[in-house]
Amino acid sequence: VDLTSFNTLGVSAVANNFVDVECPKDLYELYEGGFFEHDCPFVLGGGSNILFLENPAQPILKVSIKGKDIIEDSSGRLKVKIGAGENWHEFVTWAVKNNYGSVENLALIPGTVGAAPIQNIGAYGVELDEVFDSLELFDMRDGIFKTFQKEECRFGYRDSIFKKALKRVVVVTRVTLNLTTENHQIEDSYKSLQSYLSEKRITEPSIKDIYEAVIDIRRSKLPDPNLIGNAGSFFKNPIINRKQFEELHKRYDEMPFYELNSEEIKIPAAWLIEKTGWKGKRIGDVGTYKNQALVIVNHGNATGSEIFSFSKKIQHSVFEEFGIELVPEVNIVE
Ligand code: EPU
Repeated sequence: VDLTSFNTLGVSAVANNFVDVECPKDLYELYEGGFFEHDCPFVLGGGSNILFLENPAQPILKVSIKGKDIIEDSSGRLKVKIGAGENWHEFVTWAVKNNYGSVENLALIPGTVGAAPIQNIGAYGVELDEVFDSLELFDMRDGIFKTFQKEECRFGYRDSIFKKALKRVVVVTRVTLNLTTENHQIEDSYKSLQSYLSEKRITEPSIKDIYEAVIDIRRSKLPDPNLIGNAGSFFKNPIINRKQFEELHKRYDEMPFYELNSEEIKIPAAWLIEKTGWKGKRIGDVGTYKNQALVIVNHGNATGSEIFSFSKKIQHSVFEEFGIELVPEVNIVE
């Protein structure tokens, strides 16, 4: 199977063994048939956060489990269970259309519902864990379906247990989220969201206003993967300690920063990359996006290893200049 259309970076790669799972019981049948006995397969959602370095050696398991079930609807709260293979943005659009709140800030994030908890997707002031209830998964090691409550997922900034102790051993099948049906909590404190709303003179935004604003802002900053290959932010925003921050801040007083607590400060990786001269730069078919330096783009026929070595060059420059190590946010599949 040609994987080019299964990864938004548009890297060409071929899978020798590819299975598409449409319902959870398929997983059990695969297990009985010995599919998980050798190499654990690589679980693929929307392919919007991965970089194939070469043709993957392990089997690819695509999750296409669909469905949305409202499992509770009372006193302004709604619990909805969504199939892991549902498209995330379509789900958000469905929620906003029905006046269900809490996910509007997460509009237009590419990928699937099942992939969302893996890296705890977040944007414009909201992270998935804030609306997360629980998920169902299939454990490839023992063939058992399990339910994970929020605390068990160990969510952090672009992080969860599924990127650590449970990396590559589980398949998320369904995700349950908590939405609001009235008294929506509007989150409009993110800087670019605020300036957008005030420019439009929207003083009391509805969830639909936030949804539309986020879509507009994202479209203006981030490349559409259907038009130009990319996987969103390529690196995480680094978190540094107070001492390192004070030293850097003396050298670069214009450096943007976000204080997480008294010890930890988050610095926009995009700024570090721009400052080292990489914004809009291109080597062959690989480059950084002209409007957002944190996004690595495939201008045409870049290979996985070309993208990888480009990312290494950026890491090197940023480390040389700032002593900060950028960590990839995308999943690199060897
Ligand atoms: N900036 C630059 N140069 C640029 C772009 C941004 O210097 O080319 C600076 C500006 O100071 C700006 C700051 O970086 O104020 C932050 O930029 P932006 O608001 O675009 O957000 P980000 O920190 O670069 C993060 C997420 C995005 C998410 C946005 C909005 C990470 C790794 N990325 O980006 O998530 O959409 O915030 O909340 O946390 C993704 O994960 O794939 C992703 C796109």
